[in-house]
Amino acid sequence: MSRAPKPEAPRPADRPERMVEQDRIGLDTGEASIRPLSLSDFIGQRQVRENLSLFIQAARSRGEALDHVLLFGPPGLGKTTLAQIVAKELNVGFRATSGPVIAKAGDLAALLTNLQPHDVLFIDEIHRLSPAVEEILYPAMEDFQLDLIIGEGPAARSVRIDLAPFTLVGATTRSGLITRPLRERFGIPLRMQFYEPEELQLIVSRGARLLGMEMTADGALEVARRSRGTPRIAGRLLRRVRDICAVQGTAIVDAGAADRALLRLEVDRMGFDAMDRRYLACIADNYSGGPVGVDTLGAALGEQRDVLEETIEPYLIQQGLLQRTPRGRMLTDTGYRYLGLTPPASPARQLDLLGNLPEAGDES
Ligand SMILES: Nc1ncnc2c1ncn2[C@@H]1O[C@H](COP(=O)(O)OP(=O)(O)OP(=O)(O)O)[C@@H](O)[C@H]1O
Ligand SMILES: [Mg+2]
Repeated sequence: MSRAPKPEAPRPADRPERMVEQDRIGLDTGEASIRPLSLSDFIGQRQVRENLSLFIQAARSRGEALDHVLLFGPPGLGKTTLAQIVAKELNVGFRATSGPVIAKAGDLAALLTNLQPHDVLFIDEIHRLSPAVEEILYPAMEDFQLDLIIGEGPAARSVRIDLAPFTLVGATTRSGLITRPLRERFGIPLRMQFYEPEELQLIVSRGARLLGMEMTADGALEVARRSRGTPRIAGRLLRRVRDICAVQGTAIVDAGAADRALLRLEVDRMGFDAMDRRYLACIADNYSGGPVGVDTLGAALGEQRDVLEETIEPYLIQQGLLQRTPRGRMLTDTGYRYLGLTPPASPARQLDLLGNLPEAGDES
């Protein structure tokens, strides 16, 4: 069993680290220490867990490889964690790679031919596979066969290689970018949801216990409420709260201590940070509340479109502060009120809010 190194997400060097940022490059080394290792340790995502548990049981009792699993949802909700758990529960090997790392068909072929029967191959960011690699993946997923072209020009010939039956677990934050033929080859598609505060409270309490921290239940709830429905953020905030409380000599972290620490970290009582406020204020101040295209916003804020779409917008939308419309992003009345502004009441705006069609290429 081995793990390929996680690919680095592009991040401009001059951008300050956000407190609620998704840690995709594993700089925050504490993350591994509180990662759940079994399905029974995994809190929340009830439907996903129940489905997985059932299909794992069925595959095990039949002595077959589990059908291919596609996990999709915003960053930090536990996709990688679940993929590892699937391999553990199946008692098989786990290999991990990611879409952008597999440059050539031969790279994928090397991975696939090294799998033991029933192993789990995890492909993160599977929406970023190149078309040539995807072509190779189809027969591999369907018939456990590889069709390779060897040589070039008139001497080229195709060879067929039988593979051990395996389980592909694909993960993506952008299900809308997965091609249909690929999507259709996953027998078990699972959508991950943002976590409820009560679920995150359990995750935070468990994390505190593992970190040897003394924390009250309402202290854990305070961190949970401000973690944007995301376990990774909960884990990160928990570690920073621990640092602050340790330096200040606070032995038991209750709601008050957590609140003070989080305000110091500039995470407000709704879990929004300076970047969220900057994003919302930009739409309100520069674009009269929208609609404004995401590329324009990205340019105005000096952020990549992907960062806005994957890490900032989903939670603002889920909390009802922001809306995606066919003509661009719009601040909702709740968004205005969050900024301490009075929502305008122009007829055009009302119409846009009612005509809430998903934007072209929009997956949520
Ligand atoms: N249900 C859960 N219970 C406890 N901890 C969790 C849970 N889900 C995720 N975590 C923790 O959250 C962190 C992030 O999880 P993970 O890396 O699996 O997210 P991800 O969905 O793969 O994110 P990305 O899309 O950025 O790759 C990990 O430290 C993991 O321990
Ligand atoms: Mg991951």
